[in-house]
Amino acid sequence: MLFRIYRFDPETEQASSMQEFELPMQRGMMLRDALLLIQEQDESLAFRHSCGEGVCGSDGVNVNGSNTLACITRVADLKEPIEVRPLPGRPVIRDLVVDMSQFYRQYERVDPWLKPSEPLPEKEILQSPAENEKLEGLYECIMCGCCSTACPSFWWNPDKFLGPQALLTACRFLADSRDGDKQARLEYLDDAYKLFRCHTIMSCVEACPKNLNPTKAIGQIKSLMLKDQS
Ligand code: SF4
Ligand code: SF4
Ligand code: FES
Repeated sequence: MLFRIYRFDPETEQASSMQEFELPMQRGMMLRDALLLIQEQDESLAFRHSCGEGVCGSDGVNVNGSNTLACITRVADLKEPIEVRPLPGRPVIRDLVVDMSQFYRQYERVDPWLKPSEPLPEKEILQSPAENEKLEGLYECIMCGCCSTACPSFWWNPDKFLGPQALLTACRFLADSRDGDKQARLEYLDDAYKLFRCHTIMSCVEACPKNLNPTKAIGQIKSLMLKDQS
């Protein structure tokens, strides 16, 4: 199998380049396994990974033009040459490692924690199965960033547009029966950039390795705003 891997070393004067590597095909090989074998050929190759099970969200990369997680991408399903690049639209630190600080800052801006109404019950805030069901498709996000880094609106305005991941999270807290801060959350999101820079292109949906639908979540937030204003 022929791989073309993006290389960039900030410690040299050289511009970025694509480096070719050959690997024998192995049954069941995932892209993360391939990158680890390539690293045996050239130990200077930098990439992030941890769990190997599609859970930690650390190994987002761009493969043949699409964002995905290396550990759950079967090499056998990819067209050769397999081009692996860093997630687009973020500053490259080295090789396949990008700086995700802005992505995390946008996540932080939606206050991703429950703010229950006062007074708090003595033990716990109960939730019915029906209320809990409303969180499905929203809470499973592993923050890999594949969606936001595939979103043209996030590329152009990463500091102003919250991006699909942060908006999915915002929707998750708006949908939670235990949260008591919905009004303030909606007022915060009602902004030409934070929410309304989404142009419903749906690249985020295509990119999500967990099959989540940030575009739908953004639509849900807009509906809640309309209801709130009527
Ligand atoms: S649907 Fe909205 S959030 Fe998703 S990629 Fe398009 S502009 Fe970005
Ligand atoms: S919504 Fe999907 S693509 Fe976006 S960060 Fe969460 S898991 Fe990753
Ligand atoms: S290594 Fe954790 S999601 Fe891929």
